[in-house]
Amino acid sequence: MHLQGFLLRNSGLPCSYDTLFQVALLLLLALSNAVRIYGEEGEGQCDFKPKLDPRPHSVSIKEFGAVGDGKTLNTIAFQNAIFYLKSFADKGGAQLYVPPGKWLTGPFNLTSHLTLFLEKGAVIIGSQDPSHWEVVEPLPSYGRGTEVPGGRYQSLIYGYMLHDVVITGNNGTIDGMGLVWWEWFTSHSLNHSRPHLVEFIASDYVVVSNLTFLNAPAYSVHPVYCRNVHIQNISISSPPESPYTVGIVPDSSDGVCIEDCTIVMGYDAIGLKSGWDEYGIAYGRPTTNVHIRHVHLQASSGACLAFGSDMSGGISNTIVEHVRLYNSHSGIVFRTTRGRGGYMKEIVISDVEMENIYTAFAAMGHCGSHPDDRYDPNALPHLNHITLLDVTGKNITIAGNLTGIQESPFTNICLSNVTLSINSASPIAWKCSDVSGFSESVLPEPCPDLKSSSNSSSYCFSLLDLNGKTAVL
Ligand SMILES: *[C@@H]1O[C@H](CO)[C@@H](O)[C@H](O)[C@H]1NC(C)=O
Ligand SMILES: *[C@@H]1O[C@H](CO)[C@@H](O)[C@H](O)[C@H]1NC(C)=O
Ligand SMILES: *[C@@H]1O[C@H](CO)[C@@H](O)[C@H](O)[C@H]1NC(C)=O
Ligand SMILES: *[C@@H]1O[C@H](CO)[C@@H](O)[C@H](O)[C@H]1NC(C)=O
Ligand SMILES: *[C@@H]1O[C@H](CO)[C@@H](O)[C@H](O)[C@H]1NC(C)=O
Ligand SMILES: *[C@@H]1O[C@H](CO)[C@@H](O)[C@H](O)[C@H]1NC(C)=O
Ligand SMILES: *[C@@H]1O[C@H](CO)[C@@H](O)[C@H](O)[C@H]1NC(C)=O
Ligand SMILES: *[C@@H]1O[C@H](CO)[C@@H](O)[C@H](O)[C@H]1NC(C)=O
Ligand SMILES: *[C@@H]1O[C@H](CO)[C@@H](O)[C@H](O)[C@H]1NC(C)=O
Repeated sequence: MHLQGFLLRNSGLPCSYDTLFQVALLLLLALSNAVRIYGEEGEGQCDFKPKLDPRPHSVSIKEFGAVGDGKTLNTIAFQNAIFYLKSFADKGGAQLYVPPGKWLTGPFNLTSHLTLFLEKGAVIIGSQDPSHWEVVEPLPSYGRGTEVPGGRYQSLIYGYMLHDVVITGNNGTIDGMGLVWWEWFTSHSLNHSRPHLVEFIASDYVVVSNLTFLNAPAYSVHPVYCRNVHIQNISISSPPESPYTVGIVPDSSDGVCIEDCTIVMGYDAIGLKSGWDEYGIAYGRPTTNVHIRHVHLQASSGACLAFGSDMSGGISNTIVEHVRLYNSHSGIVFRTTRGRGGYMKEIVISDVEMENIYTAFAAMGHCGSHPDDRYDPNALPHLNHITLLDVTGKNITIAGNLTGIQESPFTNICLSNVTLSINSASPIAWKCSDVSGFSESVLPEPCPDLKSSSNSSSYCFSLLDLNGKTAVL
């Protein structure tokens, strides 16, 4: 608890640059008494519960002529309903109620002070006809569509510069009908990058809860340039063979809570990002103050929990706790490459149970492609101060595969109380190059690169000093 309070409350300090980090740390230590006091009441991002007052006005999508037969296209009904509900923005907002039925639609835009509520048995179904999908500008921090250069298909449910928006229900479903998109992706016949199910851009006070998301064409929930996003109690799945499908992607966003979710995806379950090479560096917007807890994650070809590889705006101050990772290629992965710039740092992951995972931890310094040939090969990413503690794993093939960058080695990778049982198929338990760090009570025995001086140990766990953990370590 103190740890969460500590990390998340310090977001205002100037620790965005490695050179300033030591200074920030001293400041933080000086502030530790104050932190302790605040610490009593919490709290990571997930402890700031959003207040969900019922909306004073509610209309049903049926009142706008929608037909829930799974065949009628309801895009206009959704657009008209939301246009109408805009007028309640200054009257406490309004709810758009979606009753049981199969509601086929193309993309539609949300508005501020809106609750989209999907009743049990309500399924919003994405159209499989690309002509129903508007093409929107690429995100400035990516410079182009991530799969096909140029624009990208708008997400099914889209929010641009909104405030106070809730997508929730009584376990209603949003089904992206991704199969056609996966086939077009695999056969290289997409004209634009695939759409996501839900995307919020530059929005704040966003809640997504109590729903099921199925078959996303690409990502399921994508907050970009957002603040204060709560994603709670949702279930997300796409088939194991669906190409590069990702569950939740906090992207250049500040203050994100993901809790009580079950996510089963083709590629990554949760992927933290912050822009692509020169575009992400220029945009300069980090993903920070992220709190992930009580999640069950499964990722067939990628990782349960992935950082990068698009991380050019930086990723920092992230706490992950009480997570179960299973039946996946990789457990926890940091991906980056030359040209990215940016950083991944001050990330604490604890209380992890893994089972049936090929690679438990990976840090890859040569992973990912470039948007174009204008990237700067001298823009080296930095990975520093990553702490993993209290981890158990069963049926793991490779414990750690850590490959840093020669001119920018990965530093202060700290492991404590990690016990992994390695299966007989394992070619090697640990593989390390261009990395350094510290380890304590780690089985199997890690590579020597992770056994540096006690100097490193105190640096490693300095963030934990404040919550009394050092006594135990
Ligand atoms: C939805 O928002 C996008 C981006 O702001 C815009 O391009 C599009 O025209 C909007 N669609 C509707 C129906 O208003
Ligand atoms: C989670 O959502 C389901 C419906 O999807 C609901 O029945 C349940 O009460 C919710 N749990 C919490 C803790 O909100
Ligand atoms: C929610 O709905 C999905 C199907 O859409 C179902 O598989 C799941 O069991 C439901 N969960 C709850 C808590 O009712
Ligand atoms: C891509 O565009 C071509 C030419 O307009 C069209 O024939 C094709 O159906 C489009 N493909 C997809 C998947 O939209
Ligand atoms: C989810 O559903 C539960 C049970 O209906 C309700 O208590 C809770 O407030 C809902 N959570 C959110 C964030 O909507
Ligand atoms: C061990 O994990 C691998 C995936 O890495 C899986 O294919 C295999 O079935 C698992 N073995 C057992 C006994 O569960
Ligand atoms: C380790 O990861 C690298 C990519 O970073 C990969 O090429 C290599 O095969 C992996 N090694 C093992 C033993 O899995
Ligand atoms: C080590 O981690 C396990 C869970 O993985 C936990 O039960 C145990 O208390 C931890 N040991 C110490 C000394 O913190
Ligand atoms: C700790 O490490 C730094 C560089 O990483 C070094 O300058 C310093 O002398 C070390 N201190 C001790 C006590 O080993």
